[in-house]
Amino acid sequence: MIYKTIRNSLFFIDICDKLYKMKIVLLGYMSSGKSTIGKSLSKKMYLPFLDLDFYIEEKEKLSVKDIFEQKGEIYFRKIENRYLKELLDSDRKFILSLGGGTPCYANNMELILASKAVSIYLEANIKTLLERLVHGKKERPLIAELSDEQLTEFIAKHLFERRFYYEQANKKIKIDDKSIKNICTEIRILLH
Ligand code: S3P
Repeated sequence: MIYKTIRNSLFFIDICDKLYKMKIVLLGYMSSGKSTIGKSLSKKMYLPFLDLDFYIEEKEKLSVKDIFEQKGEIYFRKIENRYLKELLDSDRKFILSLGGGTPCYANNMELILASKAVSIYLEANIKTLLERLVHGKKERPLIAELSDEQLTEFIAKHLFERRFYYEQANKKIKIDDKSIKNICTEIRILLH
């Protein structure tokens, strides 16, 4: 009896310890649900949620859209690399959602893989992405000016190029037609 209680307590401490030390990085194409899933998962796992785009906006005191417009994409990619490194090197524990392009620039994917973070690719097919991005393209500088027809071709090509980086993540989960709740449950199972 005493042995069982001690064993259960140790198991509990081990789980808490694992969770407490955890950094989880969510990656995937624009509108694959990184922020939505990240927020929901953070509540379930009692881990703080961070969004790299918001982190950049706070540090730079400018929106991502304005950074692209006023300082250009190359500047954005430089600071994106700097702030990603800062977060990965920190002692902070978190669930971090990246920007869709983050893993594909500089040495970002190498940094993620070399860190202690668990990286998870939220994989969405072109149909899902297109449905979501048709409505959400205005806030996204890379696609804001594209017509709906251009958008289809753009996503197909862009995803083909980017998939090479996304596929390097430690874990992958298909998100098409799944509820937020189910995706979070699948992620938690993947993490055990
Ligand atoms: C980008 C995606 C955006 C944002 C920036 C560039 C990209 O983030 O980082 O506009 O290159 O795919 P979301 O994936 O959250 O839209």
